Amino acid sequence: MTDNSQPQEHHDLVYEVQAGGSLGGEVRVPGDKSISHRSIMLGSLADGLTTVDGFLEGEDSLCTLQAFRDMGVQIERPSAGKVVIHGVGMRGLKAPNKALYLGNSGTSMRLLSGLLAGQYFASVLTGDSSLAKRPMKRVSEPLKLMGAKLTLQAGGLCPIHIDPASLHAIDYAMPMASAQVKSCLLLAAMYAEGETRLLEPAPCRDHTERMLQGFGYPVKVNASEIRIKGGGSLKAGHIDVPSDISSAAFFLVGASISPGSDLILRHVGINPTRIGVINILRAMGADIRYLREYVAGGEPVADLQVRYSPLRGIRIAEDQVPLAIDEFPALFVAAACAEGTTILSGAEELRVKESDRIQTMADGLAVLGVNHQVKPDGIEIQGVGPAGKLGSGTINSHGDHRIAMSFTMAALRASGAIKLLDCNNVATSFPGFSELVNRCGIRLSQHNE
Ligand code: S3P
Repeated sequence: MTDNSQPQEHHDLVYEVQAGGSLGGEVRVPGDKSISHRSIMLGSLADGLTTVDGFLEGEDSLCTLQAFRDMGVQIERPSAGKVVIHGVGMRGLKAPNKALYLGNSGTSMRLLSGLLAGQYFASVLTGDSSLAKRPMKRVSEPLKLMGAKLTLQAGGLCPIHIDPASLHAIDYAMPMASAQVKSCLLLAAMYAEGETRLLEPAPCRDHTERMLQGFGYPVKVNASEIRIKGGGSLKAGHIDVPSDISSAAFFLVGASISPGSDLILRHVGINPTRIGVINILRAMGADIRYLREYVAGGEPVADLQVRYSPLRGIRIAEDQVPLAIDEFPALFVAAACAEGTTILSGAEELRVKESDRIQTMADGLAVLGVNHQVKPDGIEIQGVGPAGKLGSGTINSHGDHRIAMSFTMAALRASGAIKLLDCNNVATSFPGFSELVNRCGIRLSQHNE
């Protein structure tokens, strides 16, 4: 089996964002990335036909979809956001005839390593140059305790080679609050002999637990303890994917920092393990309201209204860190516009995301003239205050989608245009971002350089 199936990578998409403006109107941001990945995985392993609405047609979740097609699962995409998965059952996947290419997607790689560890066939997981720098021992080590046969590259990196193995249950206290590690082990545990018991050090997103239960697979959750027995099966069904709160976060910040903004975000997932960004922004003085709350596909959902409100700096409570883990780039922009200092600690995980998000954001804030101090596990940011302005200039997003989208929002309060380099990966999580922001008040143009 070869590893060299990687498509060409492009690093040349540039955003030019004009200064000023405010956000208004109604938007529906694309579907939740975490839930979209999981819908393909569990739908593929289920018995019967699973239908998905609101699927995120971003590159990351499409990598997961392609990986399952490569393992013989028939998956149809009849129209935008709709996916029909012909589940093959727990033992129905076929050996792929090439390495599974997972692009930029850490979620695909970490979850698939668990799902594939207990199969009867070998597989290889590979990805782009950013994914090839991200730590994989966090999944290989506990999987090896279950009997998995995984080989990583030097330094604990991908490609990951997986050989067939018989797995057994483990009792495992997770060293970090990572939903990817937790989900990887839950997926492996379905193939393991006995009952696996996981302990999470702090609550982190629980979409896998919820979706397993939705597919009729028993998972027992008791505070920080999760138990699951191997040997069960999944019943196909329907999944309604809410809009991704991580994508909504850019708009929550953009509207909060720009005077005159009044924006409605429709059908946003407000799972309690994901709403750190709302909790933190409200603690800073943001005006965010739930207009209508309901449940869709086993997940709490709401329409959100966000209006401009002057923000103040805060010390961010550490228990909010796992609940807002993907939203810190956007929150740093909110902090840069707030009155006073915002202090973040206990967030060293940000250093191993699609980029080192503490350093990449700090470099961008420096371009905008925002005073800050970088810490090993966080940052202190001195905001310019409601009457102040951010600077302007050219910022490298280093191929990190969330950095590019966060600094797009910063332009709302900048003194001049912001040019953002290496924006191609916005398409991993937010297809249509530039069209949508232009529709609600930002002036963004894009070109290749
Ligand atoms: C995710 C978990 C988080 C998050 C990532 C998606 C998931 O990663 O940052 O974007 O879908 O399980 P960690 O598990 O590394 O915190």
